[in-house]
Amino acid sequence: MQVGEPTKAARVVVLGMGGTIAGRAERAGDNVGYDAGAVPVEDLAAGLPVLQGRNVSFEQVAQINSKDMRLADLQRLVDRARVHLADPSVQGIVVTHGTDTIEETAYLLQTLLAPAKPLVLTCAMRPATAVSPDGPQNLSDAVAVATEPGARGVVVVCAGRVHGPHEVAKQHPYRTDPFDSGDAGVIAQVEEGRVRRFRDWPVAARRTGRVEAFLRASAMPRVVWLSSHADAQAWPVRALLAASPEQRVQGIVVSGTGNASLHTELDAALREAEAAGVRVVIANRNGAPPVPYPQQPFADIDGLSPPKARWALTLDLLEA
Ligand code: SIN
Repeated sequence: MQVGEPTKAARVVVLGMGGTIAGRAERAGDNVGYDAGAVPVEDLAAGLPVLQGRNVSFEQVAQINSKDMRLADLQRLVDRARVHLADPSVQGIVVTHGTDTIEETAYLLQTLLAPAKPLVLTCAMRPATAVSPDGPQNLSDAVAVATEPGARGVVVVCAGRVHGPHEVAKQHPYRTDPFDSGDAGVIAQVEEGRVRRFRDWPVAARRTGRVEAFLRASAMPRVVWLSSHADAQAWPVRALLAASPEQRVQGIVVSGTGNASLHTELDAALREAEAAGVRVVIANRNGAPPVPYPQQPFADIDGLSPPKARWALTLDLLEA
């Protein structure tokens, strides 16, 4: 068998979640005014050379703009991914997904499933109806990663770059390469269907193993994300604390300025919240892991960015 030749028996499963990659605009030249999640996942793959001769199956798990992701959508995705990962005939899974919250889904999937096979999320910044859509190349690259010998774990593939689930962050609203992995850098690049790897595939996160509780839950623990800023005040936290017991917040992620610093007013209110039994964790507003220092106001979670720290705290509280 030559390098890159498909392993015909091994199956690739493509799960569709919607997003711009499945977007449909009224005018072909329109890259911003479109309906996300309109084109069926099977149609996105029609005619892609990378799939010729491969054993591929498709499943439409959701068909949404990822900004509107609900718990039920995520539970369905986790469940379907788990079922396919357990199937010995499946070599790898590709998930087509919107870019806006793909970093949260990637973190969640890696944390809950820590798959030994590749679970590759991909996306696009231009709708499927664009003059020059980026989705077909991204999907082709994702299949290359999902069928790469030795690949494992959850990754995000976009614009030829393979990002890890803990680091990936969307940093631009328009570029076709909107993601960055910060100081860690990308895991690999895909070049003409070949995967050029720079560092290890993702390893299991500290919080692995809460999948049953996640799938059973009818709602997640109430965790909100606030931010410090110039003229930040105590009232948002006090308003949260004043809620009725059923609506009471259980956790707060606060984005700090600079290196996890908080406005004094907000800091004081968050200490009140903590004394009242609310879990408070910090992250950096700029997304980079805080550099620990003795006066750091609250603990961070594994240096995660705010949206991922919010999921990490949510899962902690789910099992508490
Ligand atoms: C979405 O996140 O579903 C819409 C935006 C995108 O995919 O780029």
